[in-house]
Amino acid sequence: MKIAIGSDHAGFELKEEIRKYLEDKGYEYVDCGVYNTDSADYPVQAKLTCDKIISGECDRGILCCGTGIGISIAANKVKGIRAACCSDYFSAKYTRLHNDANVLCMGNRVIGKGEALELVEVFLNTEFEGGRHQRRVDLITALENENQ
Ligand code: RB5
Repeated sequence: MKIAIGSDHAGFELKEEIRKYLEDKGYEYVDCGVYNTDSADYPVQAKLTCDKIISGECDRGILCCGTGIGISIAANKVKGIRAACCSDYFSAKYTRLHNDANVLCMGNRVIGKGEALELVEVFLNTEFEGGRHQRRVDLITALENENQ
């Protein structure tokens, strides 16, 4: 599995922790920036990161900003992206099981490093349950297609 990661300036520190974690664990990843704490606009990194998933180069994405919210709102505007802003383990697990989320968003100003890495691990290692949840994901896709 290949992971695309990205952040704005406020999420940079957490994105770096995640990058090192992926590196240490031997995950393949692409770092879509930012690469320092200069002020940046999170929709830009959201798009760069999500495009890696839509193109098929990457399987999942992880995005960080200050709250995790702005970058998740932006990511969810990209067709085919189901981004979940999480700050607890249960949500990160169930958004994979039930929503087939393909992007995990977290806030560097919200969550500690240790917990964030646990969310990353469960997000990357939990499979979608399918079944009745597939129908609901299909309805989300239908909504997305209605609004183009
Ligand atoms: C940047 O200051 C901050 O607004 C951004 O990282 C994010 O938290 C927005 O939702």
